[in-house]
Amino acid sequence: MGIQIAPSLLSADFANLEAEAARIAGADWLHVDVMDGHFVPNLTLGAPVVEALSKVAKQPIDAHLMIEDPDRWAPEYVDAGAQSVTFHVEAARAPVRLAREIRAKGARASMALRPATPIEPYEDLLGELDMVLLMTVEPGFGGQKFLDVCLPKIQRTRALLDKRGGDIWLQVDGGISADTIERCAEAGADVFVAGSAVFGAGDPDAMVAQLRSSAEQ
Ligand code: DX5
Ligand code: ZN
Repeated sequence: MGIQIAPSLLSADFANLEAEAARIAGADWLHVDVMDGHFVPNLTLGAPVVEALSKVAKQPIDAHLMIEDPDRWAPEYVDAGAQSVTFHVEAARAPVRLAREIRAKGARASMALRPATPIEPYEDLLGELDMVLLMTVEPGFGGQKFLDVCLPKIQRTRALLDKRGGDIWLQVDGGISADTIERCAEAGADVFVAGSAVFGAGDPDAMVAQLRSSAEQ
C-alpha cells in the first residue's frame, strides 16, 4: 500500500470538524480519537460524532478507540461509518473474536498497543488483523513528545509482519512530526498519525505532503 498519512482530529477545531477535514484534502484517512475518561484520563467523542463526520468527510475514518470494554462498543463504530476500527489489546477481553466481528461488519480491524505493551505475546493474533497500531506516546493527549524508546518495538513488529507476509499495515501514533517521522519509517512503520504537527501548521495540507515525502525517503 505504501506510505499513508492519517491526521488526528484531536488537534483540530471540534466546533468545525467538517471544515477541518476539508483542510487536509491530501490525507489518506481521518484519525478520530475516541476516549472514555476511563481507559485514558481524557474524554473526547463517541459514535454519533463519527457517524456525522463519516457523512460529510471525503476521507475514510480511522477510529482509534481508547476505551474500556471495546468488545461491547467497537462494532458500533463500524455501524457509524468508520472504515478502520482500532481497539486496545490491553482493554479487549476477546481480541480474536472482536477483530473477527469488526471484519465481518465490513471494516478493517486493528489492534493498538501502549508504549510498554510488548508485541510478542500477540504474534499469533496477527492473522486476524489488518493493522497494528503502536503508540509512541502514552495515549490520552495530543502534543506529547515522541518516545524513542518505542523504536525497537517498531522494528520488531515490522520483522514479525514481514515474516508472516500478507499486507498488514503498521501504524504509529503520538509525537509524529517532520522531526520524528523518518525514524519511524526507517524502523518499518507505514501509516502515520499526526495531530498537533498537522493542525498546528499554518497549512495543514502542505504538512501532510511534507510528512509523506519525509516518510517516503
Ligand atoms: C493520543 C492520540 C493521538 C494524538 C496524537 O492519545 O491517540 O492520535 O492525537 O497527537 P500528536 O500527533 O499531537 O502527538
Ligand atoms: Zn490516536
